[in-house]
Amino acid sequence: MADTNIDSILGRIVIERNLCTDTEVKECIEKVKKYNRAGKPRSLAEVLHASGYVTRTQLKRVSKVAEEAKPAQKIPGFQILEKLGSGAMATVFKAKQVSLDRMVAIKVLPNRLSENPEYVARFYKEGKAAAMLNHRNIVQAIDVGEAGGYHYFVMEYVKGKTVYDDLSKNKVYKESDALDITIQIAEALAHAHAKNLIHRDVKPKNVMLTEDGIAKLADMGLAREMSDMEAAQQEAGRAYGTPYYIAPEQIRGEIDIDARADIYALGAMLYHMITGKVPFDAPTPSAVMHKHLKQQLVPPDHLNKELSLGVAEVVEVMMAKDRNERYANVKLLLEDLHAVRNGEAPLHARTRFNDEMLEGLEQGQIGIDHALENVLDQGPEQTGLKMALIISLGALFIAIIVIVMILSQK
Ligand SMILES: Nc1ncnc2c1ncn2[C@@H]1O[C@H](COP(=O)(O)OP(=O)(O)OP(=O)(O)O)[C@@H](O)[C@H]1O
Ligand SMILES: [Mg+2]
Repeated sequence: MADTNIDSILGRIVIERNLCTDTEVKECIEKVKKYNRAGKPRSLAEVLHASGYVTRTQLKRVSKVAEEAKPAQKIPGFQILEKLGSGAMATVFKAKQVSLDRMVAIKVLPNRLSENPEYVARFYKEGKAAAMLNHRNIVQAIDVGEAGGYHYFVMEYVKGKTVYDDLSKNKVYKESDALDITIQIAEALAHAHAKNLIHRDVKPKNVMLTEDGIAKLADMGLAREMSDMEAAQQEAGRAYGTPYYIAPEQIRGEIDIDARADIYALGAMLYHMITGKVPFDAPTPSAVMHKHLKQQLVPPDHLNKELSLGVAEVVEVMMAKDRNERYANVKLLLEDLHAVRNGEAPLHARTRFNDEMLEGLEQGQIGIDHALENVLDQGPEQTGLKMALIISLGALFIAIIVIVMILSQK
């Protein structure tokens, strides 16, 4: 039996994928109508195949997409073209917004979410807030709505890939490239934070890269179904869905999550990009979360010797377990990211390191050797200054001894 709904999606998909021309599809639709009138209904898929326009394999592939797109098909004003991907919560489709004749991406939430009025209220509230943001590094939210029992989120369509696509192929980014992406996402966060929107789910899957190298943060303002901790636990077993980027305070289920949680997650993503490894790995999600809470971070420059000391310092401050030890806001973070990108020392991070070191010395937690190591570990200009000081002190010491010896001989 022909399903006209599926037929119209299928027709669009085969044209979109250049499997058939517009004329060929129209011709087949006419044939379908004829069969219907003759009381021998046939689907468009069958007719396309019988006419020799598509192979069985091509049909199988596009029919699956057309079937999956059925719920989204009910959204008025949009023509669903293909499935872009799916995550833990929803499926994303590429669609054409008919009125403006432009491509968009539509995220369709599963039916079950409509049964949770509290979630639905949050979905609309945050969706509206996100639609008010406008930034080149944020995937633009366009609309939220409901059709046929499905809630949907319309956004800018981004042609490109996600950072996750690269990382899943074991790519290790060049420090400069990773910094360029991180700076752009930090700019996006600065814009959102200024409007009191915290992302809460910054991760490689939510960072899209366009063909011209522009990084865009996705899912801004997309309300989550559950608490951060529950979400992280539910993602158990999914290779990259595990809580590799979540801030300790989100794991603890704290409710006053602020900008610093996004800074932690961005730091974890930067760590992964420049070392090729997630900051904390373990066989189970709960073990990963435990490490975020308790285990000391292996400094990124210990894993990749080509990294600058500056980038390692910045990552460590971004990923401090206590949020009071992190950058207080993205503006300060951006100053350090730009400094490191320009080959200079990250002043905020370095001050923090030196303060920590002095505190450690005062409390006897850090030995003199360690302090010296830290001094020698610093950037070339600072090391130069310290060396000059040591040489001058040495020279002064020798001079005093010589004077004392001369005086004692008199
Ligand atoms: N605006 C967009 N333009 C183009 N493709 C997109 C867009 N938004 C999402 N996608 C694609 O759809 C996929 C699914 O996105 P979705 O947000 O549902 O899940 P996710 O972020 O990958 O993972 P999770 O659900 O685990 O958070 C993405 O990985 C991406 O490839
Ligand atoms: Mg996403």
